Parts: sequence; structure tokens; C-alpha cells
Amino acid sequence: MARLFTPFSLKDLTLKNRIVMAPMCQYSVTAKDGVPNEWHYVHYTSRAIGGVGLIIMEMTDVEPDGRITDYDLGLWSDDHIPAFQRIIDSVHQYDAKIGIQIAHAGRKAEDAPEPVAPSAIRFEGDNYKTPRELTTDEVKRMVEKFAAAARRAVRAGVDTIEIHGAHGYLVHQFQSPLTNHRKDAYGADLTRFGVEVIEAMKAEMPSSMPLLFRLSAVEYVDGGYDIDHAIELCRAYHRAGVDMFHVSSGGEGPAGKRRPGNYPGYQVPFARAIKEQLGVPVIAVGMLDNAALAESVIANEDADLVAIARGLLNDPYFALHAAQQLRVKPLAPKQYEMAIR
Ligand SMILES: Cc1cc2nc3c(=O)[nH]c(=O)nc-3n(C[C@H](O)[C@H](O)[C@H](O)COP(=O)(O)O)c2cc1C
Repeated sequence: MARLFTPFSLKDLTLKNRIVMAPMCQYSVTAKDGVPNEWHYVHYTSRAIGGVGLIIMEMTDVEPDGRITDYDLGLWSDDHIPAFQRIIDSVHQYDAKIGIQIAHAGRKAEDAPEPVAPSAIRFEGDNYKTPRELTTDEVKRMVEKFAAAARRAVRAGVDTIEIHGAHGYLVHQFQSPLTNHRKDAYGADLTRFGVEVIEAMKAEMPSSMPLLFRLSAVEYVDGGYDIDHAIELCRAYHRAGVDMFHVSSGGEGPAGKRRPGNYPGYQVPFARAIKEQLGVPVIAVGMLDNAALAESVIANEDADLVAIARGLLNDPYFALHAAQQLRVKPLAPKQYEMAIR
């Protein structure tokens, strides 16, 4: 039996297999109101029909100026809930589970007239402005915005929530010595913002619903943090209530001497290190869209789940095809059985 197609349970979340659709911004909210539209509905429903166990909807922001661009999804108002609910109901109908990634772009908010960040340090590149440093009161209000987005996600019917603490966005900015030079308590302890966000979001979620946290395990800018720092972050976040880590890397700025890998499984060692050090479930991601490789990551217990991003843009039926290749009883919906056997 291929391990990739064994079920996985964490609290009340039970997945039919170990394949996760990684969050991927679609930059497709043409109305610029943060509300998902037909594109998002079809895009996510297709991957549910395609057999993935869990879909994590793309970076969804807690306030309008927290978007990377004005074409991103948001959950800053109750008016957003019905359109998310429609997607979630559809995905459930096709027997997949679905979560959402809650985020704020911080200094990487390209369209915000005045981006905000832990410190007034600009992200390198033509698209970026120097951000304004958040006041301590504003940081506290930001925590409440993350909690309000979690409350709305739960009302929309999600099975799980992921905090975006990776790729140089706001939560990452707070936890990195490169971007957090604050003189208040949120600078004295680099985990404090993340911990408060976790606790506030957990308070809005049923206790049976797992909370995921995506983080960059290493930074690639010269002088950036290493896996040891990431492990300490994970320890604090796990204590605060994170149930599973989704292990990515980089995104905080232009790579220096160390560069991200460009080969299959390049981030798997980071996932394994966090799993081993903390004894927590982890999701591995990064060029894993190959059935044999994904199977080996699960079978070797490097990770509990594998997430696929670009591979699922290329092939919405990646999971059905992987089952075929691993000779698992076809998962294909009966309408497709004449083709995928
Ligand atoms: C079009 C696109 C959009 C992405 N948007 C997000 C996002 O919203 N949140 C996130 O954490 N990562 C995002 N990523 C990164 C992916 O989730 C993933 O970590 C990365 O692409 C590596 O996985 P892959 O090799 O399977 O593509 C995005 C990647 C792509 C290609």
C-alpha cells in the first residue's frame, strides 16, 4: 500500500490521503474587493475533483493594505464570508478538506499607499515603498485583525487554518532579526507577535480544529537566520498552540551567498529537522510533484504530508495520476474512470 494514500488525522481533521494543495495567490480578484470570484470557485473545485486530500486556499489578508496587490483575497469583513463558504461547500462535495492561509504582507504590500511593518526597513526592489513602523497599539490591533479573520474563516466552514509566517510577510518580519528592530516588547522577543496571533486565532477556533503555521526555515539574505533560529521559533509557536508546521524557506529578500535549492525535495531536510526536534507533524513542500518522490518523503517519515504548488497548476489531477503510478486503487471520480484507471 502506498503510504501517500493512507489517511491522516490531526484532531478533528481527517484527510483521505497525504497530498496537500499548497497556498498559491491567484492575483485574480478583478473587483479588488478581496472577495473570491468564479475563478477561485472553479480553481479550487477542480483540485478537489483532482483528488487532493487537503486544499489550503491562497494567502488571504486581514486588511486591505495587507494585500501584496489589490487583486488578492481578503477576510477583513463579514461580507467576504458567503463567497468563501460557496467554495468550501463545493470542495466538501467532492470529498476533499479545505483550509485557508491567513496573512498580512507588511512591507511587501505593493499597492498599499503606506505599507506597515515592525520596523521602517524597505524590501529591496522597485515595487516596494519604505514601510511605516507600527506603533505598539497598532501591533495589538493587528493581532485582533488576525483573530477576526480566523472567526470569519470558521464561520465560512473551513476545516483548518494556516498562519502565513513565511516568505518575508508580516509575521515573518516580526520573527526575523533582519526586519524587526523594535524597541518595545515585540522587538525584545521576536516570537511575541506570532505567539499573540496564534493565541488570539486559537481562541476563535473550535478546540478540535488544528492550527497550521507556515514558516521559512532559513533565510537566504546574507546574515539571515538559520534552521536553529527556526527551531526555536517553532518551539514557542508550538507551546502557543500550533498543531502542525508547513516548512518552506526564504522570501525575505534577495539571496546572498546561500541560495535556495532548485532540485526535487530541496526543503525536505528542513521539515525533517523540525519534526525530529519538536516531535510535531510537519508538511514538506518544494518540487515534490513526482509520485515516487512524494511517496518516499512520507514512507521515510521525513514529513507527515506533502504539499504541491506548481505541480497542481500544471496538472489538477496530479493526485489521481500519482495513485495510478503507485498502483493504488484509482481514486478517479466515476465520470473519469474510462480515462484514469
Ligand atoms: C503562483 C504561486 C503563488 C504562490 N502563492 C503563495 C501563497 O499565497 N502563500 C504561500 O505561502 N506560498 C505561495 N507560493 C509558494 C508555494 O506555496 C510553494 O511553497 C512553492 O511554489 C514551492 O512549491 P512547488 O515546488 O510545489 O511549486 C506560491 C507559489 C506560486 C507558484
